[in-house]
Amino acid sequence: MLTVRNILLVIGMLSFIGTCLATEQHMHHGDAMGDKRISLSLSPEMKQHQLSNMRSHVEAVRSIVGFIAGNDFERASEIAHTKLGLTEEMKKMCDMFDNEKFKDLGMAFHKSGDELGDVLLKKDVTLSLQALSRTMGYCVECHATFRQ
Ligand code: HEC
Repeated sequence: MLTVRNILLVIGMLSFIGTCLATEQHMHHGDAMGDKRISLSLSPEMKQHQLSNMRSHVEAVRSIVGFIAGNDFERASEIAHTKLGLTEEMKKMCDMFDNEKFKDLGMAFHKSGDELGDVLLKKDVTLSLQALSRTMGYCVECHATFRQ
């Protein structure tokens, strides 16, 4: 017998199932579950190359902080220029990407690495940390915008 109560029960069940399906669809919509960053569509080789380059960036930042704390500004400056600055190797690496915005951000980041290297030679902790913060602003900005 179809009572009003049974009809309401069926409607309730159908809308519950509908919600589940919609949620499911939403979760699988787009890549990497709702990651809205721009994909660089890198080849497997480029991915590995980029990640190892990135790991060397984070290592460089750690060394620079350590050398500032140890009052060794010359070595901190050397790391900034050679590991974060715009070396020929970094220029070549940045040129391999198709995305212009990514390339520009990469170049601006490496230039800030050289500026950091120059500021460090002033041997002023506050100025050095301000410059390091500017450089790290590019790490944050790029990671928020792009993914592999
Ligand atoms: C111009 C863009 C750009 C800049 C600048 C940049 N990165 Fe990255 N980084 C990336 C991308 C793209 C990935 C891959 C992220 C993804 O696919 O989720 C990445 C990944 C990483 C990873 C993960 C490495 C791994 O092995 O999983 C680390 C660590 C990292 N970056 C550190 C840094 C640090 C530290 C800086 C600044 C000193 C920096 N990056 C600057 C683009 C950038």
